[in-house]
Amino acid sequence: MPKDKIRRFAEFKQFDHCFDFPYELKGKWRSDVFKNNNPIVVELGCGKGEYSVSLAAAFPDKNFIGIDIKSNRMWRGAGIAKEQGLYNVTFARLLMYKITEVFEQAEVDEIWITFPDPFPKLRHAKHRLTHPRYLTLYKQILKPGGLVNFKTDSDELFHFTIEMLPQVGITPLAIDHDVHHNPNASAYLREIKTYYEQKFMAKGQKIKYTQFLLDMFDITKGIAFEEMQEAERKKLAKSDL
Ligand SMILES: C[S@@+](CC[C@H](N)C(=O)[O-])C[C@H]1O[C@@H](n2cnc3c(N)ncnc32)[C@H](O)[C@@H]1O
Repeated sequence: MPKDKIRRFAEFKQFDHCFDFPYELKGKWRSDVFKNNNPIVVELGCGKGEYSVSLAAAFPDKNFIGIDIKSNRMWRGAGIAKEQGLYNVTFARLLMYKITEVFEQAEVDEIWITFPDPFPKLRHAKHRLTHPRYLTLYKQILKPGGLVNFKTDSDELFHFTIEMLPQVGITPLAIDHDVHHNPNASAYLREIKTYYEQKFMAKGQKIKYTQFLLDMFDITKGIAFEEMQEAERKKLAKSDL
């Protein structure tokens, strides 16, 4: 492993408010970490944490937690938060499917999913962070009325998400196919640009966004959706023989 990466892994652990698989904090983020009762906003797959840090600076009355498996990436956001004296943002190294093991039911007020890996192959669909399997986990930690924000460059992942949501009982609150050319898009969508977002924009890709609630998410419909997709995948695999 490159020396720089090893150094960042080590330094990440030294930062105050940076955690490695913090199971002990389940249900205790407000009392033990932030020491206030403010809303908690979680960014999933945060990478270098541009959203967590920028939103933390803009909303001092909210608490932000960036989550990713790669602490050498979060090291960047953690360093900037330290430089800027932001005490309302933290980072946690975690695998996404473990999310219900670090947050209590309804402990989270809002979720951001920023440029997750698209997993274009149908056989990998269950790894997409907007797949019903993940929505089932998010519903457990998100309070009723809590928003999910999803920003992506990927046409395939966006299409998958927008098509799937109504099939599992969700009507999106917002759908934007080109955030950076929409004068009505919120300042936070246009002005905060993540590392991957900038890379994709440089290639001319349009940045897409949707926002939805999980209150009406029907887990049974989520399971039916997955079964239907699996049947379709098997049919396609057979026709390829
Ligand atoms: C394409 S990057 C996007 C990073 C950042 N949001 C951005 O826009 O620059 C996807 C991120 O998700 C993280 N990731 C992917 N799968 C994950 C998983 N199962 N659990 C935790 N993090 C994951 C990766 O480590 C990576 O940093």
